[in-house]
This record gives sequence, C-alpha cells and structure tokens, in this order.
Amino acid sequence: MNPSTKRNLAVIGAQWGDEGKGKIVDLLCEQFDLVARYQGGHNAGHTVKFEDKHYSLHLIPSGVLHPGKLCILGNGMVIAPDALLSEMAKLRASGVTIDDNLLISDSAHCILPLHSELDRGRERIAGESKIGTTGRGIGPAYEMKMSRFGILMRDLLDESVLREKLTAALLEKNALLGQVYGGDTFEVETLVQWGLEHGETLRERIVDTTLILHQAIRDKKKIMFEGAQGTLLDIDHGTYPYVTSSNCTAGGICTGLGVPPREVHEVMGVAKAYTTRVGEGPFPTELTDEVGERVRVRGNEFGTTTGRPRRTGWLDLVVLRAATALNGFSEIALTKLDVFDEFDEIPICVSYQTPRGETRHWPKTDVERGKVTPNLRTMKGWKRPTVGIATFEELPVEARDYVRFIEDELECPISVVSTGPRREETIIRAGVLSR
Ligand code: GDP
Ligand code: IMO
Ligand code: MG
Repeated sequence: MNPSTKRNLAVIGAQWGDEGKGKIVDLLCEQFDLVARYQGGHNAGHTVKFEDKHYSLHLIPSGVLHPGKLCILGNGMVIAPDALLSEMAKLRASGVTIDDNLLISDSAHCILPLHSELDRGRERIAGESKIGTTGRGIGPAYEMKMSRFGILMRDLLDESVLREKLTAALLEKNALLGQVYGGDTFEVETLVQWGLEHGETLRERIVDTTLILHQAIRDKKKIMFEGAQGTLLDIDHGTYPYVTSSNCTAGGICTGLGVPPREVHEVMGVAKAYTTRVGEGPFPTELTDEVGERVRVRGNEFGTTTGRPRRTGWLDLVVLRAATALNGFSEIALTKLDVFDEFDEIPICVSYQTPRGETRHWPKTDVERGKVTPNLRTMKGWKRPTVGIATFEELPVEARDYVRFIEDELECPISVVSTGPRREETIIRAGVLSR
C-alpha cells in the first residue's frame, strides 16, 4: 500500500493492559483528526503526563486533551453515563475543552448501577475463583448486550422504551441480586428517572457515530483507534476466563465502530519492557519475590483505575509473538525501558517448556493448566539513566541490544521507545511519526 494512503492507525495493548497506551495515543494523536474507542468501558485507566499536568482517562479517548480532535465512544463500548459525566466534569475543571468534540454512539450499551452490584456480588461469592475484576459492571453489561435485552444509549432518550426494557431486565436481575448475591435490589422507576436524567444531559452527543466515521472515511480524515485493556485480556484470545468481556484485539475495531477492515491501515502494539497484570489468572513470567517488588516500585505499578498493586514479571516474547500475530502489528512502541536503568541483568522469556517440549508459540491449554515454565535468556543491564535521551543512538549499547533483540525475535520494528511517563521522554526511531 502506498504510505500516503495509510491514514488510520490503531494503538493496541500487547500484554495484559496498562502498557502505556494513553501516553502513546497522546504522543501520536496530533497527526489525526479523530480518536475513537471501540470496546471496554471505565475499567480502563489511561495516564497522560506532560509539563506539570497529569490526566487519568477512563471512558474518554486520550485525544480529548488535544483541541480540535473529534473523540468518539463507539458502539462496542459499555458506558456508565454517571462515570462519563464525572470524567467530563473533572477534565473541564482541569481546563480541558469538552463541547462538540465528544460524541457517543447511540448503539453503545449502558452500564446501569445494577451492573456494578452484580459484578461485585459475583466476585464476592466466587471466593478463590474470582476474576479480580475492576468491579465496574463491565461483564454484566456485556452479558445483557449478548442476551439481547441490554439498554442502549439511545434508549435513555425514550421514556417508554426505557421503562419497558428496564421492567424486563429487573425481573431477572433483581432475582439474582436479592436471592443469589444477597444484595440490594432496584426499583424500575428509580432507574427510569436515573436513565432519563443522564440521557437528557448527554442528548446532543448521543448520535450514530458509525455514520460519522463513514463520512470521515469518505473525506479522507485520519482516524486513530484507541484500544483499551490488552491482547491477553481479550474475551476470545486472552487467558479465559481471566479476561475482560470485550474484544480488545484489532478485530474489535470493525465491530466496535462499524469500520471495515480495509480502513484499519496500521496497527501499533504497545508493550512494556517487562510484563504486568492486575487481577487473577495465569502469568508465566511472574516474579513473586523481591525482584518483582523492585520492578513494581521502580515502575510505579499501581492501578490507574483501582489503585491495586500490579503483578510484575519479565518480558514474555511468547505473549508478544501471539499479540503480534493476532493484531498484525506493523510496529511496536516499547515503554518503561527506564525501569531497568539500575538492573545488572535483565532476563527475557524467549520460549516455554511444556509437557510436550519447547514452544515459542502461545500454548493456550498448557498456560491455562499452569504447565509452562519460561525459558529465559539473560541480557546485560546498562546501569545508566535513560530518561530524557532523545535518540536511539544515544542509548547505552546494552539498552539498544535489549530493544534490537526483541525486534529480531518478533520480526516487528520497535519504532517508539519510551523512557519516562512524559510526552517528551520518548525516542522516535521511525514509523508512524515520520510518515
Ligand atoms: P494504559 O492503560 O496502557 O494507558 O497504561 P496506564 O496509564 O494504566 O499505565 C502506564 C503507567 O506507566 C502510567 O502511570 C504512565 O504514566 C507510566 N508510563 C508510561 N510510559 C512510561 C515510561 O516509559 N516510563 C515510565 N517510568 N513510566 C511510564
Ligand atoms: P487499561 O485500558 C489492566 C482486568 C481486571 C481483571 C479483568 C476483568 O488501563 O489497560 P473487568 O473489570 O474488565 O471485568 O476485569 O481485566 N482489566 C485491566 N487490567 N488494564 C486495564 O485497562 C484493565 N481493564 C480490565 O483487572 O483482571
Ligand atoms: Mg491502564
């Protein structure tokens, strides 16, 4: 494809979320006209830092911090209107303009207060087998969508439809809440009023965003697709059942926005220089010792959404090979290289040992059953600060070797190397920014 026709770019997490997508979207989005989220909800927490500013975005695309960019919350998302309004208020209070630059798909599903109750109730009774969700009601909202009695954002604009749908939903959900989870139940009228009030406040923004995207495509506008969560949290391709309830991988873009596959021109993966995960589930390269704690402290690995300490481990190339294949990464942004600045040695997992021998490719069932052991290759540390280094050539040779080794193993270029949380703490090698 001629480079000039590669207008649209997806930015997708390559691991278990929190790879630094917010930083990368913010860094790149100046070149784009629209930024669209296609899945997930306020389980996401995307951090953007520049100058003395610090933003945490949950539902709103990180592009909102750039004046003039149209931000879209796509039909594949689940949206808690109350959380959206408080995020908007918080951003406005810190000087961000939110007027006609934010649109919400009329077909996105609504997270009702009962969904977070169901989420927490289920986790409570699951005990040891809990998933460790964010408790935001994501799973229960997607369940209602798939069961075909979900409340759409457009339903918040129609009292009789809303009442009819809520009456049907509460018949089932109140029984679950009251009898199975032993919690509070909900009144139809209370939820109708709640929905109508939020619908009224958001009315002007609730539109058919698919039509808007189709017009943008006809006008040759440049679109950035902002992924939330990460490849291994994908409902189909992740470490099921320890996943989220949406398709975080590139496939989710088409269904979650109504954009055809040929309009997803390039896909950038975002990967940390190591691995983290929040919540339960398999994590083959996890470090449960003081080394893991050192990574957590140096990397400030505490959740943006829930504040939970993140589990930490070495970089896992088996994970990244799967992510590269599943999403078709055209390039990778490697973040948090600086976290290793003081390490003598840095092991990288190149393959797994399984009961059937060595494999370099994600062995789903063996991972699920805890039957894999990482084969590690130890790289030499660079023992020098990398923060603020502007070019790849200025990085210590050991740091360059670390990056090049990953590139070679994945057969995918690393075009961005991040050495600090701020916009300016980034090395751009080639690729999207130089298009
Ligand atoms: P996201 O969910 O993928 O957007 O990632 P989060 O924002 O949840 O987590 C990434 C964290 O790492 C945030 O606190 C960022 O400010 C921080 N961060 C991003 N890139 C770098 C980097 O290169 N170095 C360091 N030290 N921190 C970074
Ligand atoms: P960003 O976009 C990291 C995890 C939860 C839990 C599992 C299911 O910031 O990368 P859910 O509430 O979605 O039903 O929880 O998914 N999880 C994330 N982990 N980053 C995220 O988002 C996450 N969103 C959900 O911790 O293990
Ligand atoms: Mg995050």
